[in-house]
Amino acid sequence: MKRRQFVLLAGGGVVLAATGAAGAFVATRTPESALRPWSDAGQLYDEPRRRALSYAILAPNPHNRQPWLVELVGDDALRLHVDTDRLLPQTDPFNRQITIGLGCFLELMAMAAAADGYRLETELFPQGSDTGHLDARPIADIRFVADRTLIADPLFAHVLERRSLKEPYDLNRPVPDLDLAELATVGRHGNSIATSGEADHVAALRDLTHRALDIEIHTPHTYRESVDLFRIGKAEIEANPDGIDFGGPLFDTLALFGQFTRETALDTNSMVFAQGVEAVMANVDSAMAHVWLISPGNSRAEQIAAGRDWLRINLAATEAGIGIQPLSQALQEFPEMESCYAEAHQMLAPSGGTVQMLARLGYAAAVAPSPRWPLEAKLI
Ligand SMILES: Cc1cc2nc3c(=O)[nH]c(=O)nc-3n(C[C@H](O)[C@H](O)[C@H](O)COP(=O)(O)O)c2cc1C
Repeated sequence: MKRRQFVLLAGGGVVLAATGAAGAFVATRTPESALRPWSDAGQLYDEPRRRALSYAILAPNPHNRQPWLVELVGDDALRLHVDTDRLLPQTDPFNRQITIGLGCFLELMAMAAAADGYRLETELFPQGSDTGHLDARPIADIRFVADRTLIADPLFAHVLERRSLKEPYDLNRPVPDLDLAELATVGRHGNSIATSGEADHVAALRDLTHRALDIEIHTPHTYRESVDLFRIGKAEIEANPDGIDFGGPLFDTLALFGQFTRETALDTNSMVFAQGVEAVMANVDSAMAHVWLISPGNSRAEQIAAGRDWLRINLAATEAGIGIQPLSQALQEFPEMESCYAEAHQMLAPSGGTVQMLARLGYAAAVAPSPRWPLEAKLI
């Protein structure tokens, strides 16, 4: 990181010394309100549904779109909707990944409710669904039922420390086989989970995920979808606490001087573009192991179930101190990705099924949580 900061700053002619006025600037760059949902979880409400929802909004989800909308029904139920303005039509044309994110949300809500002594009765897609696209029909109807026999899921203890760790991993620190084997056992929702830290397998997947990322970045309509979701610097993150956030003094300074903007990021001849590609490739290339999840079919209910187990995998990795970052590109269904999609399925699911998630594993220093909209913004 230090080296990248130096190159970016030197190339852009901006120098930021962490002393005096600049030091004060650095100290004020944390997007406080965008991160507040992490410290507010479980703190603001006594009412069981709101308490559980205050955790559910911390769920992992693609491009941090946070596509959930919740309608409270009566005094013990709720209806989960998808916000159809928050889909990812280019990289996720059939809304498969968005649905997985909603599955993560449901699993986290169920864990939080169980910790408070409530079992959730869940009916998925009560008005039906369409595998081509999500629409205005509800995702789930959920009733909270008091149940004194429930015991908290031990994974729930790790919710506030869970991250998607998007940093280069330590190339000298393999992930122990025992930890990999343990990760493959945490699913509860009918998926197959597999892991590998075997050198040839890791090399083959590093290569595939690198090529797939290269395609996503060099395909204008998919790259643009990401860039449109860049939140650059504190003011943008606070105004829209979602998307792909670039926070901290470095990005704030570059934004201030007009060097890192959505326009410069879109210019494939710019230094910002070159540095960005280098940074994301350093991530995929430093995978020390991989984990992937296969569902038997690809129905909406199976995508929700994939999300439920994915949340469990992410929390189990957190518990074991292992960094995890999904690498979804090779699993995406836009036409330019077709050959990587086929290769991923041939490699990871030779006997059939849909590979719903693929992630790299390894170790890096901890990072801050990602921004969230507060619960009030998601209640309708
Ligand atoms: C279905 C799904 C696909 C994802 N794909 C990617 C990906 O390809 N690359 C990536 O860096 N993160 C990916 N993520 C992680 C999200 O970017 C991350 O969950 C979101 O930004 C919120 O950050 P957090 O998990 O640290 O709270 C994915 C997450 C989900 C649920």
